[in-house]
Amino acid sequence: KVYKEYFYDATGFDTQDGGYKELETPDVEPNPIDILNLLKPDQETDTDIYYTVCAQTGETQILPGEKTKTWGYNNSILGKTIVFPVGKHIHVTLQNRLPEVTTFHWHGLNVSGPYVDGGCHAPVYPGEDKQIDFTLNQPAATNWLHAHPCPATAEQVYNGLATMVIVTDEHEASLNLPRTYGVDDIPVVLQDRTFHEHNQLDYRADYDPDGVLGVTPLINGTVNAYFDVTAPKIRLRLLNGANRREWRLHFDDDLEFDQISGDGSLLPHPVHFTKLMLSCAERADIVVDFSKYQAGDEVILYSDDTPILTFRIKEFTNDRHTEVPENLIDIKAPEVDPETPVRKVSMSGMDEAVMMDHKKFKMDRIDAEQPVGLAQYWDVTNTNGRKGGMIHPFHCHGMSFLVISRNGHEPYANEYGYKDTVAVNPSETVRILVRFDLAGLYMYHCHILEHEDGGMMAQIETYVPGEPRKHYELMTMDKL
Ligand code: C2O
Ligand code: CU
Ligand code: CU
Repeated sequence: KVYKEYFYDATGFDTQDGGYKELETPDVEPNPIDILNLLKPDQETDTDIYYTVCAQTGETQILPGEKTKTWGYNNSILGKTIVFPVGKHIHVTLQNRLPEVTTFHWHGLNVSGPYVDGGCHAPVYPGEDKQIDFTLNQPAATNWLHAHPCPATAEQVYNGLATMVIVTDEHEASLNLPRTYGVDDIPVVLQDRTFHEHNQLDYRADYDPDGVLGVTPLINGTVNAYFDVTAPKIRLRLLNGANRREWRLHFDDDLEFDQISGDGSLLPHPVHFTKLMLSCAERADIVVDFSKYQAGDEVILYSDDTPILTFRIKEFTNDRHTEVPENLIDIKAPEVDPETPVRKVSMSGMDEAVMMDHKKFKMDRIDAEQPVGLAQYWDVTNTNGRKGGMIHPFHCHGMSFLVISRNGHEPYANEYGYKDTVAVNPSETVRILVRFDLAGLYMYHCHILEHEDGGMMAQIETYVPGEPRKHYELMTMDKL
């Protein structure tokens, strides 16, 4: 079966309280897409791997003329792509070389919160270096790193603090999927920005409490980007790294493509599409088969009607013979005890009135708790009306969940793998199955970054039953 429509309610998009801005094609020459090189480990042994991740200021040639002041990780914008192998003991030195406090949040990594996880209780001050270490036990997937200080996440990400984190494991490596980085395995960070005088960003000028939309598509920090295709099958690791924008993606000729992976794992089976919508922070690995095209052809990827990335077909000199198998992974949902109550979570309001569970976020208040190892359903409701409401992408730190149902119906066809972010339509309740494996303190929030900063966020403590509770050093806004 090939899905030819977006899965979402059209009523849930474009409304933005009247403030929706469409993407515009920038009037600049085509530029080769920045592939965002892999970050080299400082050291690697059979058991351990060491990295240094430095948040720094920089200048990036995005438009012709003056460079744009941007921030990035080991880079002037975005960052180098980080690869974390499952099972190894991972050590990371976090360096802050910015003029203000930041945090390093590993979105999608099942690591302990709040300190390693890098939410708002894990500040790294200007000039400071901090060490963290952890071992991953989770499926291979495309994850990411982004800044998460409270309440400046949105502005810091807008400045450029976001980069891809690829988790690898033996199972995924045993499949014959495209995985030659930069050749047939390409990171695609989808963002939108508005450029002001002297080619600069001006977050405050563009501020909207319902989320900052830019008019210029910026793909891996490149405007009017193209990629030279030298292999017939290309894997695109799509990451919606925008503050607020949903991407409605489709190719020329309604070219079909396969989604093989979601936020937190491969999908059990590939899903065939001509149209895919990604809400904020969601990831999708897709494989596009260009073999029917010939050298010299061009195939454009659009969001709505705006071209965002051009594939220039070259000779297929890198035909490693990759394929997309019908069976990608087995997912076994944990059993839920029928006695376990269903947790109710609500995202309400718009603009400055946004709330999570009827409250505004407070850094020094713990809102909920759940024992480690317990499988529990969460019913996540978006209370916005179907007219004029917004999609709120719900995200929780510290684990990946399974999507069970949408308003009592089957989830979308591409929601059968592990996820950590799920788009909840206006007036919809999405049931997810949540199990934490690590004791800690974790945030959950809407991933429209201005809603998160605006208070549509809460935190949950997980604990090992029968063991003494841990003590967490909770920051407050002014201590930060
Ligand atoms: Cu991607 Cu709490 O964030
Ligand atoms: Cu996260
Ligand atoms: Cu929201």
